[in-house]
Amino acid sequence: MVSGAVRWASFPMRNNHGLNQLSLHIFFTQLLPTQGRQLGGGQIMDMKTVRSQAREQLKGYCRVCPVCDGRACAGEVPGMGGVGTGSAFKANIEALAAVKLNMRTVHGVKEPNMRCTLWGKTLEMPILAAPITGSTYNMGGEMSEEDFITAMVEGALEAGSLSMTGDGADPTMFDSGIKAGAANKGSSIAIIKPREQEVIKSHLQTAEEAGVLAAGMDIDGAGLVTMAMKGQPVGPKTKEELAEVIAATKLPFILKGIMTPDEAEAAVAAGAAAIVVSNHGGRVLDCTPGAAIVLPEIAKRVKGKAIIFIDGGVRSGADVLKLLALGADAVLVGRPLIIAAFGGGRDGVAMYLKQMQNELLQAMLLTGCADVRNVSSEIVYTD
Ligand SMILES: Cc1cc2nc3c(=O)[nH]c(=O)nc-3n(C[C@H](O)[C@H](O)[C@H](O)COP(=O)(O)O)c2cc1C
Repeated sequence: MVSGAVRWASFPMRNNHGLNQLSLHIFFTQLLPTQGRQLGGGQIMDMKTVRSQAREQLKGYCRVCPVCDGRACAGEVPGMGGVGTGSAFKANIEALAAVKLNMRTVHGVKEPNMRCTLWGKTLEMPILAAPITGSTYNMGGEMSEEDFITAMVEGALEAGSLSMTGDGADPTMFDSGIKAGAANKGSSIAIIKPREQEVIKSHLQTAEEAGVLAAGMDIDGAGLVTMAMKGQPVGPKTKEELAEVIAATKLPFILKGIMTPDEAEAAVAAGAAAIVVSNHGGRVLDCTPGAAIVLPEIAKRVKGKAIIFIDGGVRSGADVLKLLALGADAVLVGRPLIIAAFGGGRDGVAMYLKQMQNELLQAMLLTGCADVRNVSSEIVYTD
């Protein structure tokens, strides 16, 4: 585990961003809490250090590329890549890159609101940590499953956000997430694989008892034959089966892995409180489109009826703003936070999320967006 004092050396303090005094004031008041903080241990950390430490810690599993775009790691599943040709992972990045923003600076938006509320909990930013498991077989095991997920949950919490936790063939994966959630009540969301009905219900009960904020299912894990081979079958669910598990819990239920408008509607009809538009980071089915491409049609059908999360290739605050403009309520970040956790533990996770929050603030100021809860599609450039 890496520990040490965090110095936010990459903090963009230059006053050449077109930022006025008030905007800089917002930077100071909203974003400086992590800067210059002494955490003990003597070591000074910035994003560059985190990344170089992660390169060591993740050796053979992740190259920590300058841009995490799925090219170098295509086919590396298990590992950090996308399945098959890696095209679905790359499509996530390409779909986001294709969206351009209209820059506007003649307006009165001087203090954009980045806060949002999820089931009574206010987050400082609409950016959450995605559920991630498999520290040994996906990431090389330099961090234990428990240390990894604890870093994710506590790092996200420190940044004023929260983390989802996942599930997998080895019970340690689900259990570690639950343990981290129980130690930080109301600050995690447990995502369960599409297992047999009774097993899901029992996992939901465990999650409830642990005090998580919400729970859900990554239904796009339906084709994971490795789980079946380990005696833990998963598979698709009918609408009735979905409704049955959703009705079995008092927790708000999230269906993760939705890529079509009809399935978004089915999720809402079955009682889901939220969906995650996601192709699982391109890890389950090659040749799927990028999540950002399918988002607008999905949002047209279910916006306001369920919370819309999205993930896949979100790498910057500008990416976050694009997705909010296309209809998302909040986004999840996956691989960059694995790098942050392996390179800097919980402080690395918090630092990366804060950096994204900082970038989001800049993007809002430079597009005239007053509130993350109401981002206009007009900030997206169309020719
Ligand atoms: C190594 C790894 C492990 C993952 N484990 C899970 C999991 O247990 N449950 C889940 O719902 N999604 C899992 N995912 C998918 C992520 O939650 C998320 O959908 C994806 O990583 C988002 O794309 P990004 O990494 O490009 O940000 C995993 C992804 C990776 C890279």
